[in-house]
Amino acid sequence: MVRLLNVYTISAFAALGGALFGFDISSMSAVIGTEQYQNYYGNPLGMRQGAITSAMAGGSLVGALSSSFLGDRLSRKVAIQIGAALWCIGSAVQSASNGVVMLVIGLALAGLCVGLTSSLVPIYQSEIVPRKIRGRIVSLQQFAITWGIMVQYFIEYGCSFLESTASFRLPWAIQTVPAVVLFVGLFWFPRSPRWLASKDRWDEALRVLAFLRSAHNDVNAPLVLAEYKEIEDQISQEREEESNSYRELFSSKIRKRVLLSMAIQMWSQLTGINVMMYYIVYILESAGIANSMLASSIQYIINMVMTIPSILWADKWGRRPAFLIGAIVMGFWLFLIGGLLMHYGESNRVLDQPYTWIIVGHHAATRIILASAYLAVATFALSWGPVSWMYPPEIVPLRIRAKSVALATASNWASNFALGFAVPPLLRSIQWRLFFIFGSFNMAAFIHVWFAAPETKQRTLEELGEIFEYGEPLWKSFLGNRRGSNKLDMLAKDIEIGVSKINRSEHVKMKHVISEDTDFRS
Ligand code: BGC
Repeated sequence: MVRLLNVYTISAFAALGGALFGFDISSMSAVIGTEQYQNYYGNPLGMRQGAITSAMAGGSLVGALSSSFLGDRLSRKVAIQIGAALWCIGSAVQSASNGVVMLVIGLALAGLCVGLTSSLVPIYQSEIVPRKIRGRIVSLQQFAITWGIMVQYFIEYGCSFLESTASFRLPWAIQTVPAVVLFVGLFWFPRSPRWLASKDRWDEALRVLAFLRSAHNDVNAPLVLAEYKEIEDQISQEREEESNSYRELFSSKIRKRVLLSMAIQMWSQLTGINVMMYYIVYILESAGIANSMLASSIQYIINMVMTIPSILWADKWGRRPAFLIGAIVMGFWLFLIGGLLMHYGESNRVLDQPYTWIIVGHHAATRIILASAYLAVATFALSWGPVSWMYPPEIVPLRIRAKSVALATASNWASNFALGFAVPPLLRSIQWRLFFIFGSFNMAAFIHVWFAAPETKQRTLEELGEIFEYGEPLWKSFLGNRRGSNKLDMLAKDIEIGVSKINRSEHVKMKHVISEDTDFRS
């Protein structure tokens, strides 16, 4: 039996990692519309604002790329602590900033943290939680991200009523709180057993497994021994093959899948979600909404609430329908916004505003744009949001999973960086056409997923391997494999609930068979 306390603390941990990610995303969203911010930083427009917003994503990209090196060298736990410390330093620099340069440095430092934690927290979790709840933990991460985005937005919104520079300094200082809790809390957490084993610290690995999996820290408990054996086999296999997992990432068999997970994360950004998350205030103002800060806040609530059904049912829906329907519907809302802006908008006569196109006096069009923006966010939250994080770890073997996921995460940040940078100048230069571009990205994502991304629902890694090599008929790509894994599922269930009835060596054998066939579900 899994220790309940551990499951809860681990989930809370997911929440903290995700919260930092979320705080990162919305740390500029509400301040950019305030006079206090605009006056203090010299009314940054276009590229200047793009550079500010994207500094964090740029830092996150570097953090994600160095995560696997630091996580392997220093341990997941210590690397995450370094990340949390960097976040606090970055936030301090941000909130004390005396101009754009210092602000950008602070944002980039905080971004380094988010790059590290957004890659390493899920890896650390997946190495310490039991296989059965790994998938759930990944989706909890997305839920926590949406909470982080929302909480930070509301803190900023609340502070926007302060008249001094405290209106932006305070929220940037407050965001250190979850990082401090994460940093300190980690002292009570064990190191990952898999990491300990990879450093030949076998005794510690066994003790940690006993602590995590057995109610009485019993190092002889069957589940503990089975997992210990599994890790041992895996590591000795890796050593025998002298497998260099970096090289394997780009071997002919695996390359396709690694590139696909990177593409999935890129498309999730190109859906245009962060145009909404970062710049909703600009968009709503240009659509003719006067109190844009309040109207924007609703979007963040929608984002959080609509993530819940996806977390609960994504396993039933399957990944392909979520991606395909998500892209079509999201694209529709974006084309609609672009079309309405084009038809009812006119050049903005006030020159030094972030948007050069505005709708005046067409209330119905304004309202439809507002509704479409909300619906676009709801669509993302139901589809690409959680599923883009679930999919990448599912399609690669365990031994290269951490590295492959780190690359996918880096692809998320690289695209996020490019968009954060490009959107403000584009909003000024090509106005409503921007929405058509993002609408088209959604169509391209649809086509790519249609041809290149197999359904993972109920499939073993072996089946997926064959599909990546030989392809599969279209009808099958929608259904997944309804029967294929039943036997394995039953075996897995036997092991989870009937462990006491199975003798130890049999158990170890069975567990091993299952791990080879089903590790894609972890
Ligand atoms: C994306 C973020 C986005 C967030 C919105 C995540 O899946 O990676 O870039 O801001 O969802 O909820």
